[in-house]
Amino acid sequence: NELYAVVGHPISHSKSPRIHSLFASQTGEAIEYTAIQAPMDDFEGTVRQFFERGGKGLNVTVPFKEQAWELAGKRTQRAEKAGASNTLYYDEDGVLTADNTDGQGLVRDLVDNHGVDLGSARILVLGAGGAVRGVIGPILARQPASVTIANRTVSKAAALVSLFADEAGATELSACGFEQPDVPFDVIINGTSASLQGDLPPLSTNVIDDHTVVYDMMYSLTTTTFNQWALDHGATRVFDGLGMLVEQAAESFRVWRGVTPETAPVINELRND
Ligand code: ATR
Repeated sequence: NELYAVVGHPISHSKSPRIHSLFASQTGEAIEYTAIQAPMDDFEGTVRQFFERGGKGLNVTVPFKEQAWELAGKRTQRAEKAGASNTLYYDEDGVLTADNTDGQGLVRDLVDNHGVDLGSARILVLGAGGAVRGVIGPILARQPASVTIANRTVSKAAALVSLFADEAGATELSACGFEQPDVPFDVIINGTSASLQGDLPPLSTNVIDDHTVVYDMMYSLTTTTFNQWALDHGATRVFDGLGMLVEQAAESFRVWRGVTPETAPVINELRND
């Protein structure tokens, strides 16, 4: 069996080993996938040791995605712009390569699993941290009518607008604070970590009407704080980030193995755990 793993801190609750072992049995790929907790001060040593022992590929999660990006000798185009990497491997020239499959994971879940049409959509993205930076490129590639990035610290949203201006094409890309948007959006994506603290961004309820699709990049066993707020204010279609998690894993699996697993049965199985 060829060896893969996810590295993070903490890591014990990661669903990645389960997702990848379900992919492996579904596709017949002979892989073993484990979870590794790297010490906070030695991500690099952990990565080196894993590959020296013959490891083939790593997923990287909180809080090491930016370090993974810095460590790599080469970056895919999508990882370059994301500023963070969740997928590492050695390419055919023996260079440690950083990819980022998070943005594709989000877009696949919205478009393929939930049937959301992003082309021509008016999209509100909440947050401007690493998680949001990783998804803006793949969202813009779907050519929405507009992407409004709202953040508590408006300057960080404005910096993302500058960074992605060259990928916007005909999409209207703009930045603002949470209080400013006051009309309904087609799609609202929560990429803040506010709900980890049980907090809600102070948004106007006018951003929601009954056609708005609401997507929280977080997932939890129960409805997330943000999705509950949206439901309470008239949203009828709310999704959490479990599908994104499985889709980013599937894209990493494809990058490493050249085989694309089916995600629907895996999402269903995790949902019923
Ligand atoms: P991540 O990797 O999860 O994106 P991050 O880079 O630290 O983590 O970004 C966290 C995001 O959640 C930021 O957009 C942050 O807002 P600021 O840029 O103003 O700090 C946002 N965030 C965190 N806690 C929040 C809260 N309680 N209310 C609103 N936004 C919050």
